[in-house]
Amino acid sequence: MSEKQETLIMNGQSLAFRTGQTLLEVAEAHGIPIPTLCHLKGTSPTGACRVCVVEVEGARTLLPACSTPAAAHMVVQTESRRVVAARRTILELLLASGNHNCAVPSEENGDWTEFQLRVQAADQTDDLCPAWGDCKLQELAYAYQARSDRYPRTAKAGLPPELANPMIVRDFSRCILCGRCVQACNEVQVNRAISYGYRGADSKIVAAGDRPLADSDCVFCGECIQACPVGALVEKKARYTWRPWKDHKIRTTCPYCGVGCQQWLHVQDGRIVKVSGVEDAEPNRGRLCVKGRFGYDFIYSEERLKTPLIREGDDFREASWEEALDLVATRFKAVMDTHGPDAIAGVSCARSINEDSYQMQKLFRAAIGTNNIDHCART
Ligand code: SF4
Ligand code: SF4
Ligand code: SF4
Ligand code: FES
Repeated sequence: MSEKQETLIMNGQSLAFRTGQTLLEVAEAHGIPIPTLCHLKGTSPTGACRVCVVEVEGARTLLPACSTPAAAHMVVQTESRRVVAARRTILELLLASGNHNCAVPSEENGDWTEFQLRVQAADQTDDLCPAWGDCKLQELAYAYQARSDRYPRTAKAGLPPELANPMIVRDFSRCILCGRCVQACNEVQVNRAISYGYRGADSKIVAAGDRPLADSDCVFCGECIQACPVGALVEKKARYTWRPWKDHKIRTTCPYCGVGCQQWLHVQDGRIVKVSGVEDAEPNRGRLCVKGRFGYDFIYSEERLKTPLIREGDDFREASWEEALDLVATRFKAVMDTHGPDAIAGVSCARSINEDSYQMQKLFRAAIGTNNIDHCART
């Protein structure tokens, strides 16, 4: 059954939409930009940030485009003076809610230097925010000329970062409570490790009754980092190292298993400094597991094996691939000649790609002549 098409008026244009679409989806489908902060594609809208508000004729208040269903004959303005003023106020309140030390204050504010020094002391660095240049709030603050000193700073600016976790730094002082991390954890990865905690000015994203992620059900997939629009969740290894203007992105396939997740290697000065998932690409659509996202250090390990080793007594010596493979083939042959091919069995990696699994069984069935072939998931 085809979906019903209706029309509405947005910024003076008549636009077609399907029933069930939100105003944000209609705008996106027709190339009209509406800023968002809390909206996470593919999850249920929360309407938490209100930065996507639009003016709808006849409505008493401005409405969030991400959670307002489109209706026939609606008349919508996405950048009216009222909308722009509301967005600027929302952004200024968000900037005042934490250690947002990237934003430029007005000239008359004498506290700015003191604020910067306090944030740098809390962050234990002389650098500005680790998300500088890659932050949705910063981008929108510039776009809407939002000042960071219009409202008094809230108590959240004093919260220390959580450095106790192995791979992730949580910086509560920069969290804008958009909830994207909660949706990413609960609705996308379905790990349910984090949720909203406390109330009012004390609101905070918490894990396991407000304990570090390391003491919770968190599996360190890092999906929440990828969803966070600001500098509140960052990779521990890349914090203050990775900078977008130095970034060289290389697309590749995760080397760990046969799922074949698509990932970006973020390379600086010839070294991988972080890994992220490729959004809108199959099969993972931006998602990665802990190994794919964080397990790249072995590349630079001094102990990494780069050549085959042949055991001689209690020791190993380096060998060429030709020598090592010849040795294996000779030993296989000797076992087959003495005891028959069924004396040999093969166990392949269940996470190998289909092609490798096929080659493995072909080697055992056709070349060696045994059906003793299995994979590790059944051992
Ligand atoms: S989180 Fe964003 S807005 Fe806040 S200081 Fe960092 S870059 Fe600026
Ligand atoms: S790393 Fe993964 S499991 Fe842990 S809080 Fe983030 S999304 Fe949830
Ligand atoms: S940690 Fe990031 S994604 Fe989560 S609520 Fe805070 S700002 Fe939003
Ligand atoms: S993006 Fe719509 S309320 Fe946040």
